[in-house]
Amino acid sequence: MKVGSLRYLPSTEHAWQRETDIVIIGAGAAGLSAALDVSRRGHRVIVLSKGSLRGGSTLLAQGGLAAVMDNGDSQDSHAYDTLIAAAGLADEVAVRELVAAAPGAVRYLVELGARFDNGPLGLEGGHSHRRIVHAGGDAIGTELHRVLREAVLNSDVEIMENTAAIDALTNSSGDVVGIIAGRISHTNDPALDVGVIAARAVVIATGGFGQAFSSSTNPAEATGDGLALAARAGAEITNVEFVQFHPTVLYIPGQRGRSPLITEAIRGAGARIVDTEGTPVMEGRHPRGDLAPRDVVSCAMFQRMHSPSDSLTHLWLDARAIGELRLEKEFPTTVGLCRLAGVDPASELIPIAPSAHYACGGVRADLDGNSSIRGLYAIGEAASTGVHGANRLASNSLTEALISGRRLARQLDVALSSRSGPLAPADFVDPASGRGVDASARETLATKMSTHVGVVRERSGLESILDTLESAPNSPAAALDLATLEATNLHTVSLMAAYAASLREESRGCHRRSDFPAASDRWARSIPLQVFEGEIVAQVEAVVGA
Ligand code: FAD
Ligand code: SIN
Repeated sequence: MKVGSLRYLPSTEHAWQRETDIVIIGAGAAGLSAALDVSRRGHRVIVLSKGSLRGGSTLLAQGGLAAVMDNGDSQDSHAYDTLIAAAGLADEVAVRELVAAAPGAVRYLVELGARFDNGPLGLEGGHSHRRIVHAGGDAIGTELHRVLREAVLNSDVEIMENTAAIDALTNSSGDVVGIIAGRISHTNDPALDVGVIAARAVVIATGGFGQAFSSSTNPAEATGDGLALAARAGAEITNVEFVQFHPTVLYIPGQRGRSPLITEAIRGAGARIVDTEGTPVMEGRHPRGDLAPRDVVSCAMFQRMHSPSDSLTHLWLDARAIGELRLEKEFPTTVGLCRLAGVDPASELIPIAPSAHYACGGVRADLDGNSSIRGLYAIGEAASTGVHGANRLASNSLTEALISGRRLARQLDVALSSRSGPLAPADFVDPASGRGVDASARETLATKMSTHVGVVRERSGLESILDTLESAPNSPAAALDLATLEATNLHTVSLMAAYAASLREESRGCHRRSDFPAASDRWARSIPLQVFEGEIVAQVEAVVGA
């Protein structure tokens, strides 16, 4: 199958220059936890946030943090559940390290002042024990981000809000030695005020790319910028075909971009997915019923919505049996989001449809954040560490973001102590440039991504989206603006996800092919993607020949 060429960004003049030890792109759980720890170790660190400090997916998290916190549970069980969800593609060593470190991550947040709920631990899909730590009922993200943000604001970390990372700066050896970044102006001029930040380490903590789809739980800034930046710099990218679709996202007719999440914890409390006739959709589909892993639930919903006799836009979540008092006490965020959309979950069925939620793949890295390129690191949702494999277990991502953020900080402390200072600007190699993608292409691309790279995929649809991506219009803008930056990055991540999905001729985890409905031993591997001379190349021979 043909894959289109990578689109590069328009070249830029650099109006300002900075230098630091570490630049961290992203201010979510991963970026802030890494920043706090490297700063406490005496390193100079700048954190970039594309919007205000209160952006990113972390703040929106509703479910919780997965960690073994009571005697009836065990780390073996948490590791087993994670490996089962990951459908054969997880790295067991990384999974066991994550599970062992998870209770420490919870204690760390308590030390920072986090207030977690005292009640019983929560239960979510794919977990065989109650092990989800909640805060504010269903407002874990608000609390987690609050304590990290307050600690960072009281530290020596420098925050640059409304500043977007554009491209990596490399030296003649291909090592990353800084970034090009653009300040976002709030005046009438959309052009970015572009400059360079020389740094001894560049950390990608930019979260996911849900905005590549027409409906997603992700915030507006989740446009895959870090992944695209890393790809342009030549880093290895893996598992991007494994996009997790959350089964219970509020269906609002005509809504595009971000849609409200209905936390899975509501199903943990007894809510059930039903069809128009009130028949439970998960009955007989999986031993865990409504609490089966997300890929299983979303796929069952997709099949019910697209049966030969029906074409439904949505199904329903019935949470009425939980009762109004308990719903309001334990799920205030979810209840508020529903009521805002005119639905009362205490007395009415909630309209729901699966939507893009989590990028299981990303920049290939280990749990310490090391990517395939010297000087470039990746943590949090932007990274592919081997923990999630083909499908992430619920509530493992906040845990992973914190653990890898803190491990990276430890590692950088050692690495930077033995490395010399930032390179002189004359050593920078200008990144390749092009015309970028016109922002007007976004809507069509997102619609086609949801249709053809959605819950269930097949060859002709994947060919069609790859053709659409190939013919996406170039940007007419002379100077680089945020709209072109995001459209180009979305094009890159869409191209990579669609290409990898077209190669993977099997169904595994959250990658489902109607033309290849079973898993195949031949594809029991990740497909590494890398950019060579402007083309996206997959190391398929290595995979298939092995
Ligand atoms: P984010 O928190 O997404 O932060 C990304 C940061 O990067 C933001 O500050 C953004 O502004 C910045 N950024 C992006 N591009 C650029 C750029 N070009 N330049 C500068 N900055 C940039 N996981 C769980 O484990 N438990 C849950 O209960 C849970 N609930 C969720 C609910 C919702 C609605 C969503 C969307 C996700 C949920 N997840 C949950 C997933 C989890 O929240 C994310 O995977 C996690 O927060 C990612 O953290 P992060 O630090 O990697 O990225
Ligand atoms: C949810 O609350 O359903 C989301 C949890 C997660 O994404 O881990």
